[in-house]
This record gives sequence, structure tokens and C-alpha cells, in this order.
Amino acid sequence: MSGIMKISDKEFYSLRSLILEHFGINIQEQKRTLLVVRLQKLLQAQGFKTFREYYNYLIRDSSPDRLHELIDSISTNFSFFFREHKHFDYLSKTVLPLLVERQKKRNSKNIRIWSAGCSTGEEPYTIVMLMLEFFGIEYAMWNAGVLATDISTRALKKAMKGIYSQDKIRHVPAGLNKKFFNKADEGKLVINETIRNNVTFRRLNLMKPTFPFKKKFHIIFCRNVMIYFNQQTRNDLIRKFHNVSKPGSFLFIGHSETLDTSRNLYKYVMPATYMRI
Ligand SMILES: C[S@@+](CC[C@H](N)C(=O)[O-])C[C@H]1O[C@@H](n2cnc3c(N)ncnc32)[C@H](O)[C@@H]1O
Repeated sequence: MSGIMKISDKEFYSLRSLILEHFGINIQEQKRTLLVVRLQKLLQAQGFKTFREYYNYLIRDSSPDRLHELIDSISTNFSFFFREHKHFDYLSKTVLPLLVERQKKRNSKNIRIWSAGCSTGEEPYTIVMLMLEFFGIEYAMWNAGVLATDISTRALKKAMKGIYSQDKIRHVPAGLNKKFFNKADEGKLVINETIRNNVTFRRLNLMKPTFPFKKKFHIIFCRNVMIYFNQQTRNDLIRKFHNVSKPGSFLFIGHSETLDTSRNLYKYVMPATYMRI
């Protein structure tokens, strides 16, 4: 089959509400063609002739595998190392020194960080690089890894491999790229073991009503994820982040995203950076 597959209004609205219900992703009318382009390869590979057939297949059996394939095809996984670098400057110069001070007073060596919507791993790996730079050899004495979660199995697999093309790495400060990457095939680079061993990747849907964490986080990164959600889903997510983080902890969101501070859960610190109340 060539060209773009046709999708009727009814097919589009049905798929759109299923995606909204399961993943929180709000597909706007103007993204209709993008949705078709992203899904048609999957449909063709599985022999579906129409979106109706595919939709019926999805709802007939609510097996997670079918939904995983769907989200793998439609999610936007764009990311790169040191994206929105002001966050990382702030992390190194302000947040980590502050947390270390606080934790020392408590006799604790824990720093719990969550990269929620980590995509292909550039964000959590950037955080670990900065922690290694910040702590130096003392890093081994801290319990300070990163939990990195995403809904997309495909993105997580790529993250765990840790192999990147040069364009993903171009914002890594000189010196750090030599230190933390090794050469891989086809001019690509692979993240080194030390960095990789300090990130735990897990599949997690941010739409879950509650998050399964026993201990609270000191820092949460959830950047360029809420942009795809509607206001209600964003508000719910902020409340859930609040529930799983410590008072005085930090929340970083994408620079094109906003957080409503009127509900007294978080206070503004600097652009796209908030402190939990
Ligand atoms: C554009 S990437 C952001 C990556 C990284 N945080 C950054 O800023 O570079 C957005 C990620 O959010 C993930 N995502 C979308 N909906 C999600 C959901 N309901 N639960 C978990 N992750 C989700 C997507 O799979 C995608 O990998």
C-alpha cells in the first residue's frame, strides 16, 4: 500500500479517546495526519486494512502488548544530552550542594532522583554525569542513582543500550564526552558502564492513579512530557508528584510547560523549576 491511509472522523475520535484514556496523551485535531503516519506502518505490518479494524482489535482484547505497540508507535521520544542546560547548571551549583548539606545534617547518604518520561535515556544519563562530576570519588559513598521511567518499551530498550549518534551528544561539555563515552560502530558513541550502572530503567505509565514508590524523591525531572497531556491530567500528575516527593524537594519541568502554583503544592524557583511545599 502506498500513500497515506484514510482515517474517518469516527475512527480518529475513537482512537484519540482510547489514547487519552490509557496514556493521557491528548492528540489535537491538527495532529491527525501525524497520527496516521505514525500508525500506518504498524497497521500495514499487521495486515489491517482500515483504522476501524485496528481499533476493534485493540478493544477486543485489552492485552497490554497491543497497547504497548500502539504507544511505541505514537509517542514522541525526542531528547538529547544536556537539553535545557540551565536546569543542569542549577542542579550542580545549587540543588546538589543544598541536598548534601541537608542530608549530612540528617546523617543520611540518600539522594533519590526520578527522571519521569526519560525517553531514550539522555536525561537520566546527563544527571548521573553531573553527579559524578559533583561528588568525585565521594560518589561511591552516596546512595544517589537515578530511577528513569517511560511508557515506551522501545525508548527504554534504546536507553538501556546507551548508544547515541553524535548529534545527541553535541551539547555535552568538552571533556565530559571523552570521559563518559566510548566509541561504538558507525561513528556512534556508547555511554560508559559507570554512568549506565547508576540508572535504573523501568516501564511506568504516569497515568497510574498512584505511584508504587516506598521512599520519597528529592528531585523529580518531568520535562517535555506534560506538554502532551490535558490540564486535568497535568494537575493530577502534579498532585501525584507531590505525594511521592519530600518537602523542599525540586521539580523540573520543560521550559515550554507551566505549573499552576495557586494550589500551594509547589513554589516557583526559576523558569521551569519548582520547590515542593
Ligand atoms: C519528548 S520525550 C521527553 C524526554 C526527556 N524528558 C527530555 O525532556 O528530553 C517525552 C516522553 O514522555 C513519554 N510519555 C508520554 N506519555 C507518557 C505516560 N503516560 N507515561 C509515561 N511516559 C510517557 C514518551 O514515551 C516520551 O518518551
